[in-house]
Amino acid sequence: MLAPAEDLSPLADQSVAAVTTRSVIIYVKPKQRAFQEFLRVLRPGDRLSMFEPINRFNEARAANISHEGFEMSPVIDNYRKLREFYTALQPPDTDPMLDFDEGDLIDVANSAGFRSVELDYHAEIAPPKESRSCEHALRSAGNPRIPTLEEAMHRLLTPDEIERYTDYMRPLYESDAGRSRNAYAFLWATK
Ligand SMILES: C[S@@+](CC[C@H](N)C(=O)[O-])C[C@H]1O[C@@H](n2cnc3c(N)ncnc32)[C@H](O)[C@@H]1O
Repeated sequence: MLAPAEDLSPLADQSVAAVTTRSVIIYVKPKQRAFQEFLRVLRPGDRLSMFEPINRFNEARAANISHEGFEMSPVIDNYRKLREFYTALQPPDTDPMLDFDEGDLIDVANSAGFRSVELDYHAEIAPPKESRSCEHALRSAGNPRIPTLEEAMHRLLTPDEIERYTDYMRPLYESDAGRSRNAYAFLWATK
């Protein structure tokens, strides 16, 4: 049965024994509505269980440090252009992937009316688990809704700028300089 999380109308009230999601609520703009639907379809005493990445933790912390932890001052003008492009595509205050954190998740579950709500939060800053090639990084996107770095560069930078930017990034990607930031929450709630 196919239905958006925020409108489970094909399912009757109190008709399911468990609701579970993994990396789904992060795509849903009306999160409160989705939690209300989860509560509605659950039977009394049954549970919601979810895992969601907390992408806000991965936002760059300083104007000259990339989200991979690289010092970007030598290519700051082009870096800023790319960053502004991605920020415009997914404004952190309104984009469903970024407009919430673990505190919002627990609040939204609580205000939907669950009897009890629990949440475990995990955050880590660490060297990337596997070394990435520069080519792999260029052909990757931060998430499925945004262009790859290569696509963004071709839109925004001249061929010379692309070459200079790539030459700067290559040894960084292939070194141990990067630090990835990851955070996620497990939430469970009982009706
Ligand atoms: C990152 S995938 C996760 C898939 C799977 N749960 C997993 O963990 O591998 C995100 C999923 O959310 C689904 N999705 C996006 N918006 C949704 C919505 N409003 N309601 C329900 N599912 C949605 C997409 O169809 C996609 O299957």
